[in-house]
Amino acid sequence: MNKVEKMNNLENLKNLKKLAQKLSHGLITLSGLDKNDILQILSYSQQFKDGYNPKSLENRIVASLFFEASTRTRLSFETAIQRLGGQVIGFSESSNTSLAAKNESLSDTLEMIAGYADAIVMRHPNDGSAQLAQDLLPVPILNGGDGGHLHPTQTLLDLFSIFETQGGLEGIHLGLMGDLRYSRTIQSLLEMAVMFNMRLSFIADDNFQPSQQQLDWLVANHVDFSMYDNIHTAIAELDVLYITRLQKERFADDNTDVQNLIITKDDLQHAKTNLKILHPLPRNEEIPTYVDDTPFAYYFQQATNGLFVRMALLDLIFSNDSESRASSPNAPIKLANAKQWTCCNARCISHQHQPAFKSITIQGQENVVCYYCEHNATAQHID
Ligand code: CP
Repeated sequence: MNKVEKMNNLENLKNLKKLAQKLSHGLITLSGLDKNDILQILSYSQQFKDGYNPKSLENRIVASLFFEASTRTRLSFETAIQRLGGQVIGFSESSNTSLAAKNESLSDTLEMIAGYADAIVMRHPNDGSAQLAQDLLPVPILNGGDGGHLHPTQTLLDLFSIFETQGGLEGIHLGLMGDLRYSRTIQSLLEMAVMFNMRLSFIADDNFQPSQQQLDWLVANHVDFSMYDNIHTAIAELDVLYITRLQKERFADDNTDVQNLIITKDDLQHAKTNLKILHPLPRNEEIPTYVDDTPFAYYFQQATNGLFVRMALLDLIFSNDSESRASSPNAPIKLANAKQWTCCNARCISHQHQPAFKSITIQGQENVVCYYCEHNATAQHID
């Protein structure tokens, strides 16, 4: 190794150490990470894809707590832990836990498990549950999906797959199709798409286009976006088409007509040659199986990439010593008069635990939003 290579290597190690410190409490949201952090995680994940394995989880135990169904997130996390030399504890059926069968609270359950494990990977149906876990516990928490809110590790593997197939992230034309309102993968990906100056096309039935709150946020961030009600007119200009299924478990109406949101063979004739179709999976009818055999399909490779991204994250998190983890996380300041407010999101964890709110400014206007899920808060009438 020559002198320049040695210096680059040293710089790289220093940056990785800084990144590891930022992740010392785990990963709940990507909001606290900047562009360099994200690119560094992707580049570090590539090393794991190329075969790097420092076995950094030897003698470590990670609890895998999936209170909601999962195939990919759970199994790729559990594979990553074991490949890194760690051990996994958990339950096969969340219905067999005391939380489900004996009405134990989530906070009591987590408190106990933090005494058994060195870190927790959690998926839970309530928005904000991962933030609650991080605030309560001294061990790192990895958010495997909190209700319809966020799915940060999914977004990292999505970005990894976009980078891998397009050679970068800046300025990509990204089409988002399907359920853009209730899908947690979309919430997390949108934020990153804005960070990397992507051009956005939303392709969805009116009921599933981004919410007004999301649209206001995009406008405030000067994002270039278009809205379509069908894929047939949108496909020709896209570099990446990211599709999600309708999250029928999170809303009542399942009579939505999805015909305009199903890719036809004719649509693919009009696609750019570099187009890649991504999907967090599981898929339903939105990607017919004939797409699988075309060069556009990338969703299975995308799911495999989840293993390398999760290995990289676990390795970074566990590279911190316990002292750097002991300091409190950089959580947003909670509003003092929380009792006067209520979160308008019925799925939010704040309805089961002490609510908390924070104040944010959008387009110069001060808004009170829920600390856990960022939905708008409404003032309660106090007699
Ligand atoms: N993409 C994803 O979260 O898949 P699972 O629900 O199977 O974990």
